[in-house]
Amino acid sequence: MRKLCFALSAAAALAGLCMTAEAGSVLPSVMESYEKNADNSYSVSYLEEDPYLVNIYEGYGFAKDYGSARGHAYVLEDVGKTERPHALANCLTCKTADFTKLVNDLGEDAYSLEFESLFPDMHENVGCYSCHEDKIADGELVLTHDYTLAAIGDEMGDGIAPAIAVCGQCHTEYYFKPENKATNVPYTDIASMDPAAELAYYDEMGFADWVQESTGTPLLKAQHPEIETVLGEGSVHAKMGLSCADCHMEKAEAEDGSYKSHYLQSPLNSEAILETCAACHKDTDMAEKVHAVQAEVTARETEVGEKLSALKDKLAEAVAGGEYSEEELDEIRKLHRTAQWFFDYDYVENSEGAHNSTLAKKCLDTAEAVIDEAMEKFKS
Ligand code: HEC
Ligand code: HEC
Ligand code: HEC
Ligand code: HEC
Repeated sequence: MRKLCFALSAAAALAGLCMTAEAGSVLPSVMESYEKNADNSYSVSYLEEDPYLVNIYEGYGFAKDYGSARGHAYVLEDVGKTERPHALANCLTCKTADFTKLVNDLGEDAYSLEFESLFPDMHENVGCYSCHEDKIADGELVLTHDYTLAAIGDEMGDGIAPAIAVCGQCHTEYYFKPENKATNVPYTDIASMDPAAELAYYDEMGFADWVQESTGTPLLKAQHPEIETVLGEGSVHAKMGLSCADCHMEKAEAEDGSYKSHYLQSPLNSEAILETCAACHKDTDMAEKVHAVQAEVTARETEVGEKLSALKDKLAEAVAGGEYSEEELDEIRKLHRTAQWFFDYDYVENSEGAHNSTLAKKCLDTAEAVIDEAMEKFKS
């Protein structure tokens, strides 16, 4: 028997989780693979790649600073240095196991604590606690984020694979509840994890992330809806039993047995993961297949994003010009809000179409149709 203390895991230490590992445990190998997340340090600026974003996000933090995701080892560093404003602790929801533990101890009040006073006490990134709570030794998957537990807790293991549900605690669209700033998701079960249903949810509660000054449109900012895309209409893999972990965590061998590497990576980087794709994709060159899907989706994205940017300019001009009644403008604003939501839902999904190109293209087609409808409402 060997005593293992998790120096890496501040939350586990807080919870008194020094544990006894059986001889022959794979835990040390798991820990080592977890530390490799520091290798994923690369990020690109979306604002430089796609300049039209600065225009469509005008008036919101994402117009100032918006880069692609990088590894789990960098979440705290990145939230600390982003130029987007973060007044409240709710920004820490998906960044650190320390905060998740605090929410579970204090309840929803924790979300409205001040960011600046809490941040220095946050030490751990996405940690063991995030996905295992105190069941670390046997690797049992546990939902630790209160809003995910409330929304899909009863479907975990029964409709939603645990190794999808735990990732979906953060890889999801979310919002802050107006009454107490607590983090929440705009769905209540797997059936309502859908862009149109989520928009209806926000419309019904009259929610907007911000009202854009030049257009007056109450806009929404979608954020990384990976769980919705992987489980939603048009997806093939989840229905065939593949989880996020199957594609992003390779199976590795330690002296004392096999384990899931906790280094989260693109499947294209891993020979071991690519071998599992071959069970169905046979002789297909997977990199070529993935990149072809992404190239097609990204090209459509640019096309639709530029049209959206033009709609925004035209609406801003109409607002400034004074020829339109508020009713006429509101009609166009509603279409603007809808189009931007569907565009964004595709844009901010991190796989660039690879998870579910059917849904990605449907979002872009819907956005484009709504943009066209809005453009017809202008008088000249
Ligand atoms: C507690 C929140 C949280 C959980 C749970 C979580 N992630 Fe993440 N993940 C993040 C955040 C935040 C980022 C973006 C980090 C950044 O850019 O600073 C991220 C980034 C990633 C990346 C991008 C890495 C890169 O180098 O581009 C992958 C892949 C990923 N996560 C996969 C997963 C998988 C698979 C699971 C479930 C096994 C999971 N995540 C669970 C919060 C989480
Ligand atoms: C982002 C979510 C996530 C985080 C963070 C995480 N795990 Fe896991 N862990 C998983 C998943 C997914 C599995 C695989 C479960 C399965 O295949 O059913 C797993 C499996 C395990 C297992 C079982 C053995 C194996 O590898 O299959 C152990 C032990 C384990 N994790 C320990 C840890 C420790 C220790 C930490 C912190 C250093 C940690 N985990 C952090 C998601 C996570
Ligand atoms: C069938 C395999 C598969 C499944 C299941 C899957 N992914 Fe992916 N994922 C991919 C591929 C392929 C890419 C694109 C990789 C690339 O561009 O190199 C990707 C990209 C990503 C990225 C962008 C970062 C990166 O490394 O490129 C994140 C984040 C991510 N997936 C998270 C998730 C989460 C969370 C789930 C579960 C809700 C999930 N994935 C389920 C295959 C999968
Ligand atoms: C259980 C069988 C199975 C496995 C395993 C599997 N796939 Fe698939 N995949 C399919 C089927 C079926 C389709 C739909 C037909 C097609 O496009 O080939 C598909 C489609 C895809 C697509 C196109 C998705 C879209 O929406 O356009 C990508 C990309 C992909 N797979 C990547 C992967 C990667 C990467 C792996 C390994 C990590 C993998 N698949 C493992 C069965 C599988």
